[in-house]
Amino acid sequence: MQKETVPNSHNPRQDVSKIRKRLIAAKDKGFEIFNDTVAFPRDARIIKEIVAKHRTNEDTRPSRVVDIGSGTGGLGKALHDIGVNVVSTDIENWHHHNGTVPFVRATADRLPFGTDTFDVSTLWFVLHHTDDPVKVLKEAARVSDLVIVQEDTVRTDGPKWWRQLQQITYERHVENFQIINTNSRSTPTSYTNDDWLTSFEKAGLEVVEAKQVHKPGNPVRKIQYVLKESETIFK
Ligand SMILES: C[S@@+](CC[C@H](N)C(=O)[O-])C[C@H]1O[C@@H](n2cnc3c(N)ncnc32)[C@H](O)[C@@H]1O
Repeated sequence: MQKETVPNSHNPRQDVSKIRKRLIAAKDKGFEIFNDTVAFPRDARIIKEIVAKHRTNEDTRPSRVVDIGSGTGGLGKALHDIGVNVVSTDIENWHHHNGTVPFVRATADRLPFGTDTFDVSTLWFVLHHTDDPVKVLKEAARVSDLVIVQEDTVRTDGPKWWRQLQQITYERHVENFQIINTNSRSTPTSYTNDDWLTSFEKAGLEVVEAKQVHKPGNPVRKIQYVLKESETIFK
């Protein structure tokens, strides 16, 4: 007897994956609203101050910033709103501000910009989504004078269970991100402050300034690092 085929057969696994995708998208939307209204305008003012402090009087070129791994483009928009020349770039086109902030689709480890085109490059929560953060840092340092990074870092003080919980949520965050962004590839890794310092050193960068920043997301500490190329002959 011929087997009956059921059209549009129900697959509960597909339902779970759809629900998971919707939940991740809803959570990301919430973060985006907070970032666009509170965090990015504050970040933009700080970046503008850093650019001004870093510039010498002889430098008459207009100051320029490149936001690498720009996501929906909120940081670029906030910079543009306070008069900073900014270009956004990302491996994926999620950009919401076409027409206001120029957007270039590119992978962060091969940027289509000349050496020292920018005063500052920003990498906001991008490195942990890439396979080779050192390569990305070197590329950011090639195209700009200063590199500013905001990153998730696991705290290593406190009880062991707390460290493990941070590692699980950190790695789950990276996995969830890859469900939404299939171009974003990295082995989920939970970086500590020491891991980041090692990556900066390997990229030939030294930390000028580091401070904790407060943003929603997974429960790990978020740190902003201002980096410049080490004045060393051993590059
Ligand atoms: C967590 S989101 C952060 C977005 C934005 N910087 C922000 O703070 O809202 C990470 C971003 O990095 C981008 N990304 C991941 N891997 C990348 C790569 N290799 N090159 C360029 N962008 C990348 C993703 O597409 C995503 O937009």
